[in-house]
Amino acid sequence: MAGRILLTGGAGYIGSHTYVELKSAGHDVVILDNFSNARHDVIDRLEVITDGPVTLHEGDVLDKAFLASVFAAHQFDAVIHFAAKKAVGESVEKPLDYFETNCTGFSNLLMAMRDGGVFRVVFSSTATVYGEPETLPFTEDHRLAPLSPYAQSKVVCETLLAQCKTADDRWAYGILRYFNPAGAHDSALIGEDPNDIPNNLMPYIAKVATGELPTLNVFGDDYDTPDGTGVRDYIHVVDLARGHVQSVAKLIGGNETHTLNLGTGIGYSVFDMLHAYERACGKKLPYRIAPRRAGDIDCFYADPTLANDWLGFEARRDLDDMCRTSWNWVSRRKNT
Ligand code: WQD
Repeated sequence: MAGRILLTGGAGYIGSHTYVELKSAGHDVVILDNFSNARHDVIDRLEVITDGPVTLHEGDVLDKAFLASVFAAHQFDAVIHFAAKKAVGESVEKPLDYFETNCTGFSNLLMAMRDGGVFRVVFSSTATVYGEPETLPFTEDHRLAPLSPYAQSKVVCETLLAQCKTADDRWAYGILRYFNPAGAHDSALIGEDPNDIPNNLMPYIAKVATGELPTLNVFGDDYDTPDGTGVRDYIHVVDLARGHVQSVAKLIGGNETHTLNLGTGIGYSVFDMLHAYERACGKKLPYRIAPRRAGDIDCFYADPTLANDWLGFEARRDLDDMCRTSWNWVSRRKNT
């Protein structure tokens, strides 16, 4: 069932890909973004991909009057909330900023929703809510033990949603816990575009491939994994975006609240990623073994069964597809 959906953070990496998938599923979509970590030309690119105008409200989730004006301008069926800060290391340096944007921003949004009579929301959460694995793969009932202010901020928001629903049963929500997003849109018009030196593996490898960075630092090769490097569950951003379309459809179709992992269930090491990227870009990429990064876990990956049961969600794109689309995006962007 198609609806009118507000996408906060819709110009960002996952938000922009979700915009495209929502439009192709027939939804009417409005983007809210403050462009703190996105470029304005993403909007033009979304217009090219979807062949139509983008409805945009530029502003901040910390601005309550702005939020009220957005809800006064449209009658939404649901909200998908991406607008948040997401760098684990930065959150350790700036816990107050993370609490303010991620927690206060979200509670402002929920208040604006309530005041506007909108009670369906899909929330961007993270596998980092689980912390150090007690058992693998991670199932949704694994205990939560956030290790950073970033992860803690997501747990606070998840808890707030549950409390809102206990207080008022009109709330219906989908909490989606992402594993490691990678790749870009097939059009090569949108993708991940970090301004600074990337923290995450895929965008870092991409910048080594384009020559913007000289060498990949492999953070530790003595982990308890098959090749000694860290293992993660990388999921194509377009698969992730499709998961949001399925989640919001579940809310619009029947108000069915859910908390789900979005991952593939497959773990790849840093070397697996590096070699897959080398295949995609057709050249050897330099790396060196560096010390372990503080706070890193050796290995984690999702049990994706529940998302499949609830939503019919299945990741369709493999590692080579993640690397190929990433390379198409970054090599084209560098030349434009
Ligand atoms: C992956 C592996 C590193 C960079 C991230 C986000 C977190 C959350 C989940 C959203 C690890 C190794 C990395 C590099 C390396 N996302 N690595 N050299 O740590 O799983 O967490 O995904 O909520 O926000 O931080 O992902 O991409 O940083 O690291 O060797 O230059 O690559 O040690 O084993 P991580 P990552």
